[in-house]
Amino acid sequence: MEKELIRLADIAMQFDGEEVLRSINLTVRDKEFVTLLGPSGCGKTTTLRIIGGFETPTSGEVYFDGECITNLPPYKRKVNTIFQRYALFPHLNVFENVAFGLRIQKLPEEEIRSRVLEMLALVNLKGYERRSTDALSGGQQQRVAIARALVCRPRLLLLDEPLGALDLRLRKDMQAELKRIQQQLGITFVYVTHDQEEALAMSDTVVVMDKGRIQQIGTPEDIYNEPQNAFVADFIGESNIIDGIMHEDRLVEFCGRKFACLDGGFEKRENVDVVIRPEDIDIIPYQNGHIKGTVTSVTFKGVHYEFIIDVDGFKWMVQSTDYRELGSEVAFIIEPDAIHIMKKSEYSGMFGDYSTYSEAYDRDIREFDGEEPQEEKQYEAEE
Ligand SMILES: Nc1ncnc2c1ncn2[C@@H]1O[C@H](COP(=O)(O)OP(=O)(O)O)[C@@H](O)[C@H]1O
Ligand SMILES: [Mg+2]
Repeated sequence: MEKELIRLADIAMQFDGEEVLRSINLTVRDKEFVTLLGPSGCGKTTTLRIIGGFETPTSGEVYFDGECITNLPPYKRKVNTIFQRYALFPHLNVFENVAFGLRIQKLPEEEIRSRVLEMLALVNLKGYERRSTDALSGGQQQRVAIARALVCRPRLLLLDEPLGALDLRLRKDMQAELKRIQQQLGITFVYVTHDQEEALAMSDTVVVMDKGRIQQIGTPEDIYNEPQNAFVADFIGESNIIDGIMHEDRLVEFCGRKFACLDGGFEKRENVDVVIRPEDIDIIPYQNGHIKGTVTSVTFKGVHYEFIIDVDGFKWMVQSTDYRELGSEVAFIIEPDAIHIMKKSEYSGMFGDYSTYSEAYDRDIREFDGEEPQEEKQYEAEE
């Protein structure tokens, strides 16, 4: 494992007496791709700005390569930042936009030229040197911003929702490309997004945040398969979250029945939250099932159907490639490895039932009607 590059030690941040970050402890390793993920207002940008030196935390320390840099100004840090609203210099062409930082360092013309051309090749903008930046598409402008940030060879690049302004297709392409560039150059990335798919697709490590606190740190697989609490389970993907009682190791009760599971380490009869992902539920013939309900919503999603199934008033989301009719009676089984047990938390009872699902779905359709869906995301990101 690579050695530590950045460490945030017990960081707290207040603005006008209002607590925005609390007990932030995070280690970022050399060459790691770490993503801060959470809803708008949870403190992602503030955390990034503290790493970059644009904010000084109310308490706690920032370490870079083992050295305390809490009070070091941004320009003395080996860090570069791509902000949410990266602004290219409109009066300079592509080459000069990228060369800007090197000119400030007064490097020899030869070196500037070779380094800028190398960066433009890296971001697939070979031949665009003389273009004016307003003759570029959004995606191309984004590439120039990336080349400009990387040409100075920072040890660490901070990126604050850099793809927020791009449409979905381009966003996906750029995700893959940023990942490639990061691996090729071996630069550490700390990336901010509120888009869970983006975080899962790109990161080595995901840091899930809510209300100014870290909720979980882990690999994308950890975060998805072993969420620490109901907030994480709900925020990352779709989840049914049901009240349960842990009877003993590997035996949990919910929906009035006992189920074998793989989890242990809880108190006897401890109240817990049980997470079951919609894709892990198997619909079976009615007479064979132990959980029975009625289909109240069917949505075709391409790869599978998404069903809402009412079981004694609790609405489950179930995904299956087999079609079931609206109103039909169905049964399902849940295998031990589909069950994940979480401790009760302040988030218990807030998520995990799909009773409001169809309303939310109707509203989405109305809002997106005639508009580009990513518009909404962008507003969210800019709050
Ligand atoms: N300079 C500031 N002054 C006062 N409040 C701020 C300032 N910057 C951020 N905040 C507040 O801190 C909270 C976290 O903001 P931010 O870090 O931008 O969240 P995120 O990037 O996750 O959306 C928000 O409630 C925001 O209003
Ligand atoms: Mg932000």
